[in-house]
Amino acid sequence: MSHREFRPEKPSDWDAVEHLTREAFWNVYRPGCFEHYLLHILRGSESVVEALNELCLEDGALCGQIFYTRSQLLRQTGGALALLTFGPVSVHPDHQRRGIGTELIRRTMARARTMGFPGAVITGDPAYYRRFGFRAAADFGIIMEDGSSFPELMACELIPGGLGSAGGRIRFCPEFESVDESALLDFDSRFPPKQRLKLPGQLI
Ligand SMILES: CC(C)(COP(=O)(O)OP(=O)(O)OC[C@H]1O[C@@H](n2cnc3c(N)ncnc32)[C@H](O)[C@@H]1OP(=O)(O)O)[C@@H](O)C(=O)NCCC(=O)NCCS
Repeated sequence: MSHREFRPEKPSDWDAVEHLTREAFWNVYRPGCFEHYLLHILRGSESVVEALNELCLEDGALCGQIFYTRSQLLRQTGGALALLTFGPVSVHPDHQRRGIGTELIRRTMARARTMGFPGAVITGDPAYYRRFGFRAAADFGIIMEDGSSFPELMACELIPGGLGSAGGRIRFCPEFESVDESALLDFDSRFPPKQRLKLPGQLI
């Protein structure tokens, strides 16, 4: 039986977290992946909620991570509500489907609640995130800043009534908006070579 441990992420973990994230996301949603690059460009940004970034280690080896940023709900009536967004969340392929992702999400959402965040908005597979209390963001009247809405846009109240009923447009931190593909390729060349494959089920 392996020894599983959760602990906060530290700057000295950042390189290992990028490697782990690349392993977990590689060829899952697109040929290759960009999530390790996203982590890299967000390091040191005020958007990051360092206190919630957490790791899972099994027998001392890093096998899971979760990363949080601030987002803003822009109210139709004016004003903005500070919310949370998590992702990337990764579990190394050799350790998946053993509850690590679930524990990382549950533990950190519980801590977010004690920190007073009223709610979280994410993009992710509804089949996975419903179990944590996420619902279609549209149920709360929440749409993307550009006015679009899709089933993977999901929201969860961390405090009862925290999202209210007025809805609004969600503004994620700008780094999520678009990825500079040539900077991504350049960054990825620092990692061990891996084959980019076009596979069924990928989003792009
Ligand atoms: C998604 C991820 C973090 C889940 O972590 P995990 O430790 O493997 O998940 P858990 O063991 O806690 O939960 C397993 C359950 O999640 C389900 N699950 C895992 N990934 C899923 C996905 N992408 N969509 C739907 N369900 C998923 C499994 O079917 C399983 O459900 P079951 O118990 O009903 O069979 C992990 O699989 C991963 O890193 N995947 C690649 C990167 C990724 O997609 N990250 C999330 C981006 S939104």
